Amino acid sequence: MVKARKLQPHVRAAMRKLFGVKSKRFRDRSLTFTDSAIVDEYGYAVMMDWERDIMRKHVELVTFEGADVLEIGFGMAISATCIQAMKPRSHTIAECHPDVLVRLREWAKDRPSVKILEGEWFERRGDFERYDGIWYDPYEDPHERDFFAGVDGWLKPGGKFTFYNQLAKPRNKHGLDCTYVEVPVNPDPNDYHNAKRYYIPLYAPGTGA
Ligand SMILES: C[S@@+](CC[C@H](N)C(=O)[O-])C[C@H]1O[C@@H](n2cnc3c(N)ncnc32)[C@H](O)[C@@H]1O
Repeated sequence: MVKARKLQPHVRAAMRKLFGVKSKRFRDRSLTFTDSAIVDEYGYAVMMDWERDIMRKHVELVTFEGADVLEIGFGMAISATCIQAMKPRSHTIAECHPDVLVRLREWAKDRPSVKILEGEWFERRGDFERYDGIWYDPYEDPHERDFFAGVDGWLKPGGKFTFYNQLAKPRNKHGLDCTYVEVPVNPDPNDYHNAKRYYIPLYAPGTGA
């Protein structure tokens, strides 16, 4: 599973007590949007604002002016807005949650390079093209292994891939030979990443990176 960003254990325990086990699949859960987070109905944070700086750094590794970029997961639009600022030729965003999609459609209205693939990326992978940059940041993706297995086929020659590193340490996930950029972070209270370092993976086959 890809990251399950979580709240403090005591908050989570209280939410579980109130709402029961995490039985619904992600896209069927109700979400609460605040200025600083998206939280699901079980109290798990899907995205938090403290990650803003690492979002930017992730996408800067795989985006440039004129690039064709694929992004998995729109969330709080943080990384998507960074990608747009870099003027890609195309910016394809796969997003599955209905409440996030409402926001994404509105956000995309005056951004003509954005193409939205509605649904889980796995259902929409037949619509993928070839990309200069791929940024993978979904939530509880049951098909994570399939994404990593397929990524070579969606990259152009010289293309680059980066993904959210839940473990916050350098680790070659699913056999992909990555390099890592170490960055200092200052997380707000949470129970998924409290280290002061975050390691951004970069997979750049054939570039020597
Ligand atoms: C952690 S957030 C993304 C945060 C985003 N990078 C940002 O900067 O705000 C994860 C997003 O992925 C979406 N998502 C989860 N699983 C997905 C899947 N299998 N396919 C597409 N989108 C997915 C969620 O609805 C959510 O919007």
